[in-house]
Amino acid sequence: MTDRVRISFADREVRVPAGVTVFDAASWNGIAIDSTCGGHGTCRKCKVRVDGDVTVSTSDPRAFSTDELAAGWRLACLAAATSDIAVEVPPLATRPKAATVGVGRQVILRPAVQKRCVELTEPTLSDQQSDLERLLAALDDLELTVDLRAVRNLPKALRDNDFRVTAVVVDDRLVDVEPGDTSETRFGIAFDLGTTTAVATLLDLSTGTPAAVRSMLNAQQPFGADVITRISATMLDPKALGRLTARAHETLAALTAEVCADAGVDPRTVYEIALAGNATMTQLALGIEPEPLGVAPFVMATRSLPRVLASDLGVSVHPGAPAYTFPALGAYVGGDIVAGMLASGMDRDKRLRLFVDVGTNCEIVLGDGHRLLATAAPAGPAFEGAAIRCGMRASDGAIEVVKITADDVTLQVIGDADPLGLCGSGLVDAVAELVAIGLLDSSGRLMAADLAAEKFPGLADRLREVNGERVFVLHEEPMIYLSQRDVRELQFAKAAIATGWRLLLEEFDASESDIQQVLLAGSFGSYLSPANAVRIGLVPDIAVLRIVSAGNVAGEGAKMTLLSVRERAGARALLEEVRYVELSDRTDFNDRFIEQLAFPG
Ligand code: FES
Repeated sequence: MTDRVRISFADREVRVPAGVTVFDAASWNGIAIDSTCGGHGTCRKCKVRVDGDVTVSTSDPRAFSTDELAAGWRLACLAAATSDIAVEVPPLATRPKAATVGVGRQVILRPAVQKRCVELTEPTLSDQQSDLERLLAALDDLELTVDLRAVRNLPKALRDNDFRVTAVVVDDRLVDVEPGDTSETRFGIAFDLGTTTAVATLLDLSTGTPAAVRSMLNAQQPFGADVITRISATMLDPKALGRLTARAHETLAALTAEVCADAGVDPRTVYEIALAGNATMTQLALGIEPEPLGVAPFVMATRSLPRVLASDLGVSVHPGAPAYTFPALGAYVGGDIVAGMLASGMDRDKRLRLFVDVGTNCEIVLGDGHRLLATAAPAGPAFEGAAIRCGMRASDGAIEVVKITADDVTLQVIGDADPLGLCGSGLVDAVAELVAIGLLDSSGRLMAADLAAEKFPGLADRLREVNGERVFVLHEEPMIYLSQRDVRELQFAKAAIATGWRLLLEEFDASESDIQQVLLAGSFGSYLSPANAVRIGLVPDIAVLRIVSAGNVAGEGAKMTLLSVRERAGARALLEEVRYVELSDRTDFNDRFIEQLAFPG
């Protein structure tokens, strides 16, 4: 694991991996340092005074006198912190814009997409500089690679607008030149491409505010509900990969059209997109063979992808728009989790926190801002409402909340509709409530009918047999029930997850009571009742106020990387920090799993 160093700013001390620049360290922690080049080492505005040992970079002598260098002045974006240092940041010349994203994260806006309006002098017979030379001279604080499209559009854009144009720069590429001043118009789209649902947020990159948000089911659904069935589809039919890729593109394209229409934004003013997805979704969307992800030893095609364009993902926005894809830790801790860790500040919060993304494959991260351990637990489809007798996905008609007292059952249904089935949160509620009143024992067995008639006369007639299986009826007409086998499915799912975080705690040499916060990520996490999650032993037994629904953190992470290039560096640094703990090769996994099947007494 990377060693950490301490950087003291005037009012705060931060700890970062050794080698991180002062500029990055400040940016990740919401401390603004002047810059117009976004930390590329070309604007020379990021001047700071360092107390401690920081090497003089080749650009420093051009920015500072010998006396200033001796006094510790350095360009922050080129000053790598390799030991503990103190940093003085001069007052800002301009006030940076910031946005609150993720779990209360303040992100200083520094998008990769920059627009610069420049007014150039017209050529004359005595000044025959080319159009491009003229433009690049006006942008001499940037070191740019030029796309052909920009050169194609340049002569006309200049001559139609009295040589006043706007350069569109993404990272260090000049991707286009637009006539006149369009510098205030720049958008990006952050996608969370989930196995079940995809969400798109259109972001105004000048202000950091969302302009529109839309979600829809991933159009790959007909190929199977989870990643394994979709990988299997590609193994059975050579044409399936192409079809799955096309379905992913359809999904992203439809969302793009919707968010742009909602906000009245021309898609050609979307200059960058970001995509957070698990390893399988990302590979399928890019047409990369997923088979090695689905069979041991579970290998990804690459952890970090080469430069990808939005058009490679079927998204029609500006033709030069790149697509930022999150790096992944492994086949089962993918870019979506890296995005989620970033958005929830798993790498910087000093409290011992447990991050749980509950799904078919449940990702678990335990960290205290110093050490980070991650694992993936195969929870199966119970939380998605699959493999449950009356189960359904969390959509209109799904029972999402169940309350059971000694003589009554009350239900809350999504969309205020008539109940059609039971979704994951309703399943957890039903089981937890039955355990709480004692109709289900800690081994997961429903109470015998004669005993129930005596102890719970108001509920006893709900205990019946359906197809030879004992059930508890939640609703008549249509009959929706919880079966004995459903309870078992939930026990398997929660035992896999509980075994995962317990083993991580052991590796961490910490105990359940040391955990100061549990973050429940993903849409399921937002619906789950923290008290009931504790009651069934899905999450550690800590005060419910410390169990926080973190929402769609993968999508938030994607937004952060569009708003700030420094956050991308943060995502990369995170990967170096996290240690993956493989559960499947642990000899004690099975025993531990069996111990966790019971509900806490
Ligand atoms: S941020 Fe521009 S030179 Fe450092």
